[in-house]
Parts: sequence; C-alpha cells; structure tokens
Amino acid sequence: MGKLPYEAYIFDLDGTLTESEPGIVKSVQYALEKMGVTGYSREDLQFAVGPPLMYSFMGALGMSEADAAQTVRYFQERYGAKGYLENSVYPGIPALLKSLKAQGAWLGVATGKPERFTVPVLEAFGLAKYFDAVAAPLAEDDAPYKERLIPRALPKGPVNACIVGDRDLDIQAGKTCGIHTVGVLYGYGRKEELAQADLIADNVEHLTTMLLGDAPRAKGCFMTIEGSDGCGKSTQAKRLAEELALLGHRVVHTREPGGCRISERIRGIVLDAREEGMSNLCEALLFAAARAQHVHEVIRPALLRGDVVVCDRFVDSSLVYQGVGRELGVVVEQINRVAVDGCMPDLTLLLDIDPALAMARRVAAESPDRIEKERDAFVQKVYRAYRALAENDPQRFRLIDASGSPDEVSARILDVVRREL
Ligand code: TYD
Repeated sequence: MGKLPYEAYIFDLDGTLTESEPGIVKSVQYALEKMGVTGYSREDLQFAVGPPLMYSFMGALGMSEADAAQTVRYFQERYGAKGYLENSVYPGIPALLKSLKAQGAWLGVATGKPERFTVPVLEAFGLAKYFDAVAAPLAEDDAPYKERLIPRALPKGPVNACIVGDRDLDIQAGKTCGIHTVGVLYGYGRKEELAQADLIADNVEHLTTMLLGDAPRAKGCFMTIEGSDGCGKSTQAKRLAEELALLGHRVVHTREPGGCRISERIRGIVLDAREEGMSNLCEALLFAAARAQHVHEVIRPALLRGDVVVCDRFVDSSLVYQGVGRELGVVVEQINRVAVDGCMPDLTLLLDIDPALAMARRVAAESPDRIEKERDAFVQKVYRAYRALAENDPQRFRLIDASGSPDEVSARILDVVRREL
C-alpha cells in the first residue's frame, strides 16, 4: 500500500472545500445597500470571500471601524438566515477526503467562518463525517486568526502536517505554525498571493494527486435505480445525479440498455417494436451483451476514478424481466455473472408503485416499446419479482415509495442516499 505524504491535513473551508461565493456576495451586497453604499457588482465584491469581513470592509472599502462593524451586522442578518447555505462543494472534494480518510489520515478544518455556520455547512453538504477536528471562531466577533485556529485543528503531539487553502492568510498562518502549505488556484485567491506556498494545485484533480502521493484512491460508489415501466425512475435518476453534483461528487449518469455507443446500438435492436420474432434467449443475451460493454467502457473506469455512478436500470432488470417475466430462470443469472464481471451495485433504489398504475400512465404518454407492449400478467410478475429480489438482499436494496409528486419521491431518495453514501 502506498504511503501518504502527510499524517494530518488541515483544510480551509471557503474557496478550498466549498464554493461559498454566492451566499457571501449576496449578503455583502445586502449589507452595503443597507449602509447606503451602492455601485458594487458581484465581480467587484470577490475580495470579500475568504478573509475576515472587518478586515475587508476597512481595508478594501476604506470604512471606519464603526461602519465596518455595522456592515458586518447587516451581513450577518441575511447570511445567518439563508446565505450560509448558498454553497456548493467543489467537484472531486468528497472523493479526495474519502481517499485520505481510507488511508488513516487525520483531517481538520481551520476556517475564519464562525462555528455556528461552519458546522451546519459541513453537515448540510455531507462533509462533516470526514473531519476529526473543526476549528472555527466560537463567537461572531472573535478575531479569526488562522495561526490560532490551525493548532486546534491538528491532532495532539508532533505530526507531519499541511494546510490547504486558497488565500495568503492560509499560507502565512501555515508557515507561522511550522507546517507545510498547499495553495489552491481554483478558489478565490490569485496566483501572486499564493507565491509563498510550498506547493500549488491548479485544480482538485491536481490537488488529489499531490495530497495522496502513492496512496490509492478510494473506489467510487455504484448506485442503480430500478422499477416497473412508468415508475418515474428516469426522472429520478436525473435529479439524483444533479443533487449529488451539488454535493461535490463527480457523477456519471448513465442508463441500460445503453450508456455507450455500442450498447445504445444494441438497445436499438432489442427494444425495436418491429422485431416480433426475437427469441427470449436472444433478448436476454442482447441485454447482457450491452451490459458487458457498458461495464467495461463506462462503469468500471468511473468507479476506479472514484466517481459516483447513477445507472438507470442494471442487472436486476434482466433478472426480473428475462429471468422471471420471460421465464428463462437461472440462465439469466449465469450470463449476467459473466457480463458484469464482479461489478455489482453498492446500492439499488427500487421505486415501488402499483405496476398497473405506472403502466397506464406510461402507455398513455407515448408509443410503447417491444417490452412495454407486454400484458398485465407479465407486468405483475415483474413487479413481484422485484419485490422478492429486494427482500432477499436488504443490504443492497432500498424500497422507495414512488407514489406522490416527483418532488416528494426525490426527497425520499435523497434522504436514503445521503445516509448510505
Ligand atoms: P427503460 O429505457 O428503462 O424504459 P423506460 O422507458 O421505462 O425508461 O428500459 C426499456 C425496457 O427494457 C424496459 O421495459 C425494461 C426493459 N429491460 C429488460 O427487459 N431487461 C434489461 O436488462 C433492461 C436493462 C431493460
């Protein structure tokens, strides 16, 4: 196993882990308007992201101490209500943290953002679980000196540590504390202000290579969405992929049959309503062939990169449609064992809805494909087979109530996925 270059990694929050600009800038704009200061665009206010606000208002805007303090109070009005959650996590950060954690690294956060915002942000974006220590000012008006925060984020005793940050304050504080400094260029600091850093990373990918050294990357997560025709899974797969991207996961959203050029061509054949003479075995083999290519070309490479794969249907569709619906039985399992070659989902969301209802919705909406033209008895068999699969493997399956509005179903899915990730 490769060795990590450091034992402890301390991260700045804004501009390093999260892109917090929207919430901060909108709240600064609000505060300045309340002070009667106008004429600053969103671009003009970038300087406010990262350093302590008092410092920015007095320095960059030339305010008196009293005016700066009042502006900070107005800022807090809006920021405390909603601005602190107007964030997204930089793509690739969760995969980096997961890889470091898997290698036994100590992870800390040292941020000038008050603790009462920092902790909810880390929790809301699913990052809290990675960190051993969070050092943030306890009260709003505590001076957020980074050099006093870093020791609070480090483990006890001497360690080989680094701080990762996007501003000169992070780099200077790291030097004062005698630890290595890594500047990141994807945040809010300019290249010149990071010139003193020991190392500079252009993007999260580059940072990952630097921070992991020879140590291996943690494998990604493979999620599949299954259910009867018309259960709404394609809409839900798309929404899930979008939500996971906001949490900083690099997401590969794909589908079966299909997902890459060769497999999409097979899809064209296997679902063609004109191919009435297709044998059940030919159908099962085509689905499996499309899957083998999809795993080889898309799914396995994505998981090796540490990405999250969200796949609309996978092997369980074959087990229920061909194995049970077409009554091919165990042969479907056998050919698919070869096709997936050990690449099985970590989590399968089964959208559960009365199949007759779902089908009626579906057939009314558009012209049915070859498999959707099947009769009621087939559809019921498929539905019962799904339920049986889920009951036999509660570790992998989660049953999701797919009745109600798309928003209600998405909320149920996100709730489950966030717990499982
Ligand atoms: P899909 O594109 O998911 O249908 P939808 O239009 O509901 O989004 O899947 C097309 C059809 O293929 C669907 O009826 C289920 C069927 N199917 C199988 O029979 N076996 C399989 O292995 C797969 C992946 C799909």
